[in-house]
Amino acid sequence: MGSYKVKTLYKDKSFSFSRIGPDIYGSTHPQNLLSEIKERAEFLYSHNSPLKGKILINAFYEPSTRTRLSFDSAWHRLGGDSINITDKSSTGIAKGETHLDIAHMFNNYGDCVVLRESDNEAIFEMTKSLRIPIINAGNGIDEHPTQAMSDLYTIFKWRPHLVNKSIDDSEKITIGIIGVPSRMRTVRSLLKLFCKFPYFIKKIIVIYDDKSIDQNDLFDEGQLEQLIESDLKIELETDMQKVLPSLDVTYINAIAWVGENYEVHGSSFKLHSELPFKKDSIILHPLARGSELSTSLDQTSKNWYFAQSRGAVFVRMALLTCLMDRTTRVMDVV
Ligand code: CP
Repeated sequence: MGSYKVKTLYKDKSFSFSRIGPDIYGSTHPQNLLSEIKERAEFLYSHNSPLKGKILINAFYEPSTRTRLSFDSAWHRLGGDSINITDKSSTGIAKGETHLDIAHMFNNYGDCVVLRESDNEAIFEMTKSLRIPIINAGNGIDEHPTQAMSDLYTIFKWRPHLVNKSIDDSEKITIGIIGVPSRMRTVRSLLKLFCKFPYFIKKIIVIYDDKSIDQNDLFDEGQLEQLIESDLKIELETDMQKVLPSLDVTYINAIAWVGENYEVHGSSFKLHSELPFKKDSIILHPLARGSELSTSLDQTSKNWYFAQSRGAVFVRMALLTCLMDRTTRVMDVV
């Protein structure tokens, strides 16, 4: 952890500043990760404003802090403009307009849609009439793919050598997921993404509260089978304290947005700085924070959840750049 002390003089007053916690943004700079990556990425920095003149329709029919603002920030950083929906009741949905018709309108107003909708099926309905690309920013309890991309990016920033497929067994990591795969879109998408990267994972331990959910309801049909078929070793556990000392990454989420409200899961699990975490391990949380994640962790080296939300901007910038470049090459309507 870096630390510094600065003294300034203002007339006869002396101020001193010192870092009170880890450099949660600086130490998570992707410099080490970039040196591990072999792919050529010239395209990503070949021009500064690839989205100049393009308009993003940022359609959030459900509350959001991070996803909407980071997509907006990413699009603006790439030189584009955006129009935002932040309240379902102010749109045609309040008059009974269908997603199919809304998508027809979106074609006229923008070049790309980012959609968050509580209705799992809305995104699929929209694709029937859309002629511009759409990105899923959370569809009900189903999926949140760009959150999972940001989670994985954070893990790779923390341990850059995990990008190498030939890593030794001794370097593989154990990941604890405190959450409900069948009910949480963040967990569901992250597990799906892990299926593509089983080579760096020793095992995944799903930690659940058996007083609030039956073990048989933890996974949706086919979900566990997909993980096992992808060569991931899955264990189930109800005693968080017992497994914490073995976890390299502790991922926690406690809420699932369902319809117009949210469900709280696993409220018996609360992470705080006095728990027996493994040395050099990290905590991830998609946020928003609830009582499951104590602020006592914010100034510790376990806190990679702020880096996780910061990195999401750059992941989304990369995604948008690649997506829009491809779109202009393969579609004749935009
Ligand atoms: N992680 C996440 O989806 O946060 P928001 O709900 O604030 O977008």
